[in-house]
Amino acid sequence: MGRILSGIQPTGNLHLGNYLGAIRNWVTLQNSHENLFCIVDLHALTTLPDPKDMQTWTREVTAAYIAAGINPDQSIIFVQSAVAAHSELAWIFSCLTPLGWLNRMTQFKDKTGKNSEQANLGLYAYPVLMAADILIYKATHVPVGEDQKQHLELARDIAGVFNRQYNVDYFHLPEFFSLKVAARVMSLRDGTSKMSKSDPSDYSRIHVMDDPDTIALKIRKAKTDPDPLASTPHAMENRPEALNLLGIYAALANISLEDACRMFEGASFSGLKQKLTDQLIATLDPIRKKMIDLLKESTYLDHILKEGSLKASEIATKNMNDIKNIVGFLKT
Ligand code: TYM
Repeated sequence: MGRILSGIQPTGNLHLGNYLGAIRNWVTLQNSHENLFCIVDLHALTTLPDPKDMQTWTREVTAAYIAAGINPDQSIIFVQSAVAAHSELAWIFSCLTPLGWLNRMTQFKDKTGKNSEQANLGLYAYPVLMAADILIYKATHVPVGEDQKQHLELARDIAGVFNRQYNVDYFHLPEFFSLKVAARVMSLRDGTSKMSKSDPSDYSRIHVMDDPDTIALKIRKAKTDPDPLASTPHAMENRPEALNLLGIYAALANISLEDACRMFEGASFSGLKQKLTDQLIATLDPIRKKMIDLLKESTYLDHILKEGSLKASEIATKNMNDIKNIVGFLKT
């Protein structure tokens, strides 16, 4: 049985991309693997959120995991900052990671643009911490959206450089895992850019907490083009908005993109939008309602996180002791 590790930043605006690209797949994998699902608050700190918001959002992500079907009796749900080994291993990895590797990270370049000189060191070193998150548990599979693939490749490179530096076979290379459909959900306002928490327009994304009226409105306003829908993805190559809406529909209806195209061939966008709205509400509304209930039970959520942190710490501390021994830290 493999071991899964994945995580989401508590930065608010949890959206459909986070659900389809990550959480939903975790629920499917839950029965066949040992699972650790983390709320990565150390990563969120790179954006310096208000401390009260960070607490609210940490509970909100926890509630979303549980409401979407992660079972806390079966999977370990925990907060990253509660397990010190993540930060300790990140430092060790920092000493092994060439700057050239970090300079290639596209997400850092996308986030900072021309202002990279002003960006904080945490944002730059972010993928090294992510490598530590994964490798401290010796995770075998990492289910994430397409946007995290490069970071996972870096984690694999770091595992390799550690093994070579210390002449050990300690870390095994974790595998990227994503479903083809909806591995990259795009903005509803611009089919060429990713649906993201930080887009200033709320209309660019569906929030997991949106009520049915809001979902219907956002889909009604979603950008389209003037042509009827075509029969294959290939025939819509230059129509990113059409492909995005069909991709979301396919993911929610558990069919392939090809089947979704065949289903809506020749239809107008309004037909697709109606069916898509129905699917979105059928999927997200039960999750939203459970989240509302869970968020009233903050003591319960905190208890889950505490139990989870204890279990995660047990695995992480044991591995960290091995790692400290390998790098030559004297046990005092
Ligand atoms: P974060 O919080 O940005 O996103 C959480 C998860 O949602 C996926 N995702 C998407 N998938 C499809 N389409 C989209 N538009 C979309 N937007 C986001 C992300 O791929 C991710 O799976 N660095 C990570 C968090 C992290 C992590 C880890 C993940 C930290 N340590 C260790 C796995 C393992 C991040 O920023 O996720």
